[in-house]
Amino acid sequence: MNRIDFSHDTQAAAVIASYYDAPPLAYVHSYGCQQNVNDGEKIKGVLMDAGFGLCNKLEDADLILFNTCAVREHAEDRVFGNVGALKSLKEANPKLIIGICGCMTQQPTVVEKLRKSYPFVDLVFGVNGIDTLPALLAQKLQGGKRLLQTPSERYDVVEEMPVRRDSSFRAWLPIMYGCDNFCSYCIVPHVRGRERSRKSADILAEFRRLVAGGYKEITLLGQNVNSYGKGLEENIDFAGLLELLCAEPGDYHIRFMTSHPKDATFRLIDTMAAHPQICRHLHLPVQSGSNRVLAAMNRRYTAEKYLELIDYAKEKIPGITFSSDIIVGFPGETEEEFEETLELIKKVEYMQLFTFIYSKRTGTPAAEMPDPYTHKDKTARMARLLAVQDEIAARLARQLVGKSYRVLVEGHARQEGALTGRLDNNLIVEFAGDSALIGQYAQVYVEDARATVLKGRLD
Ligand code: 5AD
Ligand code: SF4
Repeated sequence: MNRIDFSHDTQAAAVIASYYDAPPLAYVHSYGCQQNVNDGEKIKGVLMDAGFGLCNKLEDADLILFNTCAVREHAEDRVFGNVGALKSLKEANPKLIIGICGCMTQQPTVVEKLRKSYPFVDLVFGVNGIDTLPALLAQKLQGGKRLLQTPSERYDVVEEMPVRRDSSFRAWLPIMYGCDNFCSYCIVPHVRGRERSRKSADILAEFRRLVAGGYKEITLLGQNVNSYGKGLEENIDFAGLLELLCAEPGDYHIRFMTSHPKDATFRLIDTMAAHPQICRHLHLPVQSGSNRVLAAMNRRYTAEKYLELIDYAKEKIPGITFSSDIIVGFPGETEEEFEETLELIKKVEYMQLFTFIYSKRTGTPAAEMPDPYTHKDKTARMARLLAVQDEIAARLARQLVGKSYRVLVEGHARQEGALTGRLDNNLIVEFAGDSALIGQYAQVYVEDARATVLKGRLD
């Protein structure tokens, strides 16, 4: 791991300033996971450092950047559709710069497609080039030619990057980048590269800045937070990092994602139990309840091992809730194997599930596996799974009625005069209250549950 500090690019900023008559505006949109959203916040920070302002309308922009996601085909199709729609904007304003970055552009086939079929795209760069964006832009403005970078395997950890956060009270805090797990269906290790952890001192410094800045909810991010610390010179693991952060005084709470069941430890559960600042919620993607499918997915745990961890957490942390990712229709998943997933869901009783129909990703081992089931079969299974889950979640939500909870007030609800607050367990409660509460903690009494949306009043 090579750690470098971001530095302001004076030369690039001067080129950008002299190119435009007025300070230029950038429209940045991020697709996909929180890691990508946080990358988008860094992109905005770096652009502002280079002299750009930000805008919310495509029509107002001098620079449009799509920070893309590659995890499923559907996500990629959506990006291509949205990029296609920019053609008319470019025709109306030839000075407009259009850039595509993020996970999709780490795939050579995508860069080729953009080169050939989207001639109005000016800039393409991968997930590891955010700090070099001002220089890239300056080069484009000076040279005029398209700059489509082929994916680079650059493994620097860049610290001190300017970040323009989307929220003033919830923050993403990456602790590691990349993934070494190579689940057989997943493109992420291929596009985000090898795991590298940030030094704990760098994480702690950013954490302190966030707490001092009034951030209440700090979510630690990594594709696999439980392998935090591997490869660092210091001797620290994820539970150790949590201990370090929880020693910081202040009014905040911590979430983290994503945990991999093969690496999540009893010690992690003990650490969660010992620190009230850590939300009593565990996102632990199981993907499937069938051991045959789990092996084919290269997940390296069994359903029994997974349930052991869940049971331990239920015992040590009363009131803990769980969420998970599930893939329906992995190549060759049989009816019986699908039913094993339903059984596991019933045993765990998740509060929330993120469910995906398997999407074939070229270059991954699963893409080569025989897949006799049709999309229609898979959609039907998905509907059955969702029916099971809806029933469980509604039952769990009903159990929350009649008690009072501390929530972080996040924003306005759809209903006039109502606010939304997030409980420890990640559920949302709607209640009447003053806008001044947004970004603060409030105590809310839950009066009713409609499916998984809770209704309450200030307590
Ligand atoms: N098809 C469907 N879902 C996928 N995921 C990752 N790759 C694929 C794929 N090829 C899901 C997994 C992962 C989540 C982030 O996305 O469930 O946990
Ligand atoms: Fe993909 Fe598996 Fe890594 Fe998650 S742990 S990013 S599913 S390879």
